[in-house]
Amino acid sequence: MELIDGKKIAAEIKEELKQAVAELVKNGKNVPGLVTILVGDNSASESYVRSKAKSCLEIGMRSKIEKLSADTSEAELLTLIEKYNKDKAYHGILVQLPVPKHINEDKIIDAISPQKDVDGFHPISVGNLVIGKDTFAPCTPAGIQELLIRYRIETKGRHVVVMGRSNLVGKPIANIMLQKKEGANAVVTICHSAAKNLAQYTLQADILIAAIGSPNFVKAGMVKDGVVVIDVGINRIEDTTKPKGYRIVGDVDFENVAPKSSYITPVPGGVGLMTVAMLLKNTYKAYSMYGEQNG
Ligand code: GUN
Repeated sequence: MELIDGKKIAAEIKEELKQAVAELVKNGKNVPGLVTILVGDNSASESYVRSKAKSCLEIGMRSKIEKLSADTSEAELLTLIEKYNKDKAYHGILVQLPVPKHINEDKIIDAISPQKDVDGFHPISVGNLVIGKDTFAPCTPAGIQELLIRYRIETKGRHVVVMGRSNLVGKPIANIMLQKKEGANAVVTICHSAAKNLAQYTLQADILIAAIGSPNFVKAGMVKDGVVVIDVGINRIEDTTKPKGYRIVGDVDFENVAPKSSYITPVPGGVGLMTVAMLLKNTYKAYSMYGEQNG
């Protein structure tokens, strides 16, 4: 069993981007910029946004946080997005989700210019991903593919079983793995909460991707020997021995599944850290692809 070290790979990607940005500065060019918009005071969202902004600055990119109060209207938010769609200093726009209930999330996602859609949530980005065009892939699934590639884990012709069908992870990772491309070209099954007997699918997996948001759900009896396990879950469970009163566990019963695996991602320290690294990569890509028009 080998641990897939998301921390190490995320650091590698950041270092590569840092060098690319330094090269831009050396040549007197504009640097890539990311604006992150946060509405309301969800504490988890605040810490995600801070970590995204901090990572941008670490690698020399421009970064700005727009923090709006919880009672910001949908119209105000749309106006702000429109402003950044035109702002040549910012190549990526990210509205941290969830937004408060009085704001229509779909409308917000639709308003972001597809050229600045570094989250890959805009329907145009989603459509381009499905038909195999070069586009912005959502950061967490893009990070999963990057881990598989950098660990030289064969995907071609192998059976990838995805647990979960969210727009954030399940659907996009299934579409990524399906493409006739390097680091993909897999046979893909998506299973979800309506499946009658989940184990009949998961037992077939050469590569199992768990993205269901259910702590320690995947048990040793649900996987075959030698499986590659990618655990996307970030679940808080009560733990009175910890200072915060909780600890973070994945969707996979790591202790019992790890001994049967050939590779496995730990939680924390696996997929989670890749999300920010891929966001930076998408921001650099937005700059490279559209920087001429957008700044
Ligand atoms: N909320 C949880 N994950 C994400 C993400 O990847 N992007 C955005 N915009 N919001 C999120």
